[in-house]
Amino acid sequence: MYGSSSGIGEAIAIKLWSLGANVVITGRDEKRIGELTKGNIVNISSIAAFTPSSKMMLHCMAKCALDMFTKCLALQLGPKGIRVNSVNPATVRTPIFERITGDTKLLDSLVEHCRQTYPLGRIGEPEDVAEAVVFLANETSASFITGLIMPVNGGANHLPN
Ligand SMILES: NC(=O)c1ccc[n+]([C@@H]2O[C@H](COP(=O)([O-])OP(=O)(O)OC[C@H]3O[C@@H](n4cnc5c(N)ncnc54)[C@H](OP(=O)(O)O)[C@@H]3O)[C@@H](O)[C@H]2O)c1
Repeated sequence: MYGSSSGIGEAIAIKLWSLGANVVITGRDEKRIGELTKGNIVNISSIAAFTPSSKMMLHCMAKCALDMFTKCLALQLGPKGIRVNSVNPATVRTPIFERITGDTKLLDSLVEHCRQTYPLGRIGEPEDVAEAVVFLANETSASFITGLIMPVNGGANHLPN
């Protein structure tokens, strides 16, 4: 795993560790993955891949590209028995907003926004994303799932524009 020092990545690492997994910080190395284990990959994308934003154009484009990468890689690595999937969270309670903007109050306003607008009436928690990642990474629950772009968003994709 990479990106496990805080936020969603940290929650995933803790969840996997609590389930008894060996959590290894690593990058994608197809050859090594193939040699060691069939394994699988879960990319962390975003609702931004589905919802255009004039203020976050590059972010939306990058997440869209990541989703296509997930789907193409699923085709490429499927014959080797390696599954590749994605989780696409909506707003999740992490330090990312203060880190990017320096605004210490932004998270509070997002919490309130999600409470008022998301169908499930709350912001996402890092553990919500971790549970979805564990489901997709599990060879029992998801052994026949690859190339999936999975929203983890409290129903936010069904909000009216
Ligand atoms: N929070 C949300 O609302 C939300 C919603 C949708 C999608 N996401 C996605 O979820 C992912 C994690 O976001 P987060 O909210 O958990 O953010 P976060 O709390 O700020 O955590 C970001 C993590 O990424 C690591 N990182 C940053 N730049 C890196 C680099 N160049 N190389 C390796 N690691 C790097 C950081 O490590 P260091 O501590 O070493 O910098 C940190 O562990 C992101 O891809 C984000 O787009 C987040």
